[in-house]
Amino acid sequence: MSGLPGSHLDVLVVGKGAREHALAWKLSQTPSVKHVYVYPGNGGTQKGVPNVSNLTEGPVDQGRNYEHLARTAKSLNVELAVIGPDNVVVNRIEEYFCHVAIPCFAPSKAAAELEGSKVFAKAFMDRHNIPTASHRSFSDVEAAITYVIKADGLTAGKGVALPETTTEALAELRGILQDEKFGVAGLSVVIEEYMEGDEISLLTFSDGTTFRSLPSGQDHKRIGEGNTGLNTGGMGVYSPVPFVTRSTLDQVDREIIEPTFAGLRAEGRPFVGLLFTGIMITPVGPKVIEYNVRFGDPETQSSMILLSDDTDLAAVLLSCTAGTLDQVRLDVRPGFACNVVVASGGYPGPYTIGKEIVLKPSPAGVMVFHAGTKRDESDGSLRTAGGRVFSVTAFGTTLREAVDKACQGVQSVHFDGIVFRKDIAAQGLVIFVRESLGIADVFNND
Ligand code: AMP
Ligand code: GLY
Repeated sequence: MSGLPGSHLDVLVVGKGAREHALAWKLSQTPSVKHVYVYPGNGGTQKGVPNVSNLTEGPVDQGRNYEHLARTAKSLNVELAVIGPDNVVVNRIEEYFCHVAIPCFAPSKAAAELEGSKVFAKAFMDRHNIPTASHRSFSDVEAAITYVIKADGLTAGKGVALPETTTEALAELRGILQDEKFGVAGLSVVIEEYMEGDEISLLTFSDGTTFRSLPSGQDHKRIGEGNTGLNTGGMGVYSPVPFVTRSTLDQVDREIIEPTFAGLRAEGRPFVGLLFTGIMITPVGPKVIEYNVRFGDPETQSSMILLSDDTDLAAVLLSCTAGTLDQVRLDVRPGFACNVVVASGGYPGPYTIGKEIVLKPSPAGVMVFHAGTKRDESDGSLRTAGGRVFSVTAFGTTLREAVDKACQGVQSVHFDGIVFRKDIAAQGLVIFVRESLGIADVFNND
């Protein structure tokens, strides 16, 4: 496969969301990369990005056969594998790529425990004095209901309950512990303090020793405007978050990020990959909500559009696997990114797939990353194939410009029952309005 002059690397990206489309797009822009295969990919990675294609042929199509996938990648001379989804990371795909000597950008099984078990993560934070929601075990139901209930293992984002009544709390605990609604992921639960504050996401590359964070982002987890309704995988992200000051970020580094990597190293589980830390900026300082051991979705879409043109993403990822992250360039362009997720009507509940999609050309500076889309082989049409269908992502020199461009970009996408939030970045924009009006109180977290 041909790429830019001097390109030589073939890369495999594993996953099928907008996160993987964004990673494949950025990798394909990288001078060192010749071709990006995506497995299983979506309608956007199948067609439309030069030097990107889906890997669907042959036996690798048979579910989660990681050994086969690794062997196929080897036969295609793939020299870097990048893993998106959490379950694939936690299920140790990295070991299969290791067997065929392909560097794999994903943490080891031992380091991935940070996301694989919330019980482990809480105990780890206790051991290393990392601020997080206080937590305890309960024998008294009444006391337990003012707390947040979390299933221990991976639950595709459905394992956290914020009960408001005794009845809700009891139903949740019974559902997890007695009815086993999350199976083995709910053999135990963590019950923790409800934290008030503003939530941010921080994506941090690490080679085990050196770490480098991308600009902070703010996701919008609920389906409804004004943060109402059910939790989703994430309905949109803007980045950087204007109300997170340099001094707060320094505190996050000092109190959370540094001790996390140092703690993992000290425990013989050095972290190589991307750590996504969900952080609550509370009135008493930043505290960890959760760790994820993979790229965030939709955080990654905004991050990829912010990376400078001369940042070689493949070199960054390879340097993590080689322990040389301190030697590569990782630059972010000044400005802002915003992405708006376009979903199927009904999501995150039941929804219908197979709706025909009409895509008009999007405005300059806007990327329409695909998630749940599929090309119909009989007539070549593009159809919906999932809950989150697109992530429309834009860059702007101001946050306002990035938001306006993303919203314009959404107008280029059409299908029956389309759903999206119109208030992505509202909190960030309010900060600027307050600043311009001379209302400074929101900045006093310095
Ligand atoms: P998690 O899967 O742990 O990220 O939780 C999902 C969402 O629930 C988070 O993004 C927060 O919005 C919310 N959440 C989780 N834990 C807490 C907490 N202790 N206090 C307040 N909100 C929380
Ligand atoms: N945006 C939240 C996640 O990737 O889990």
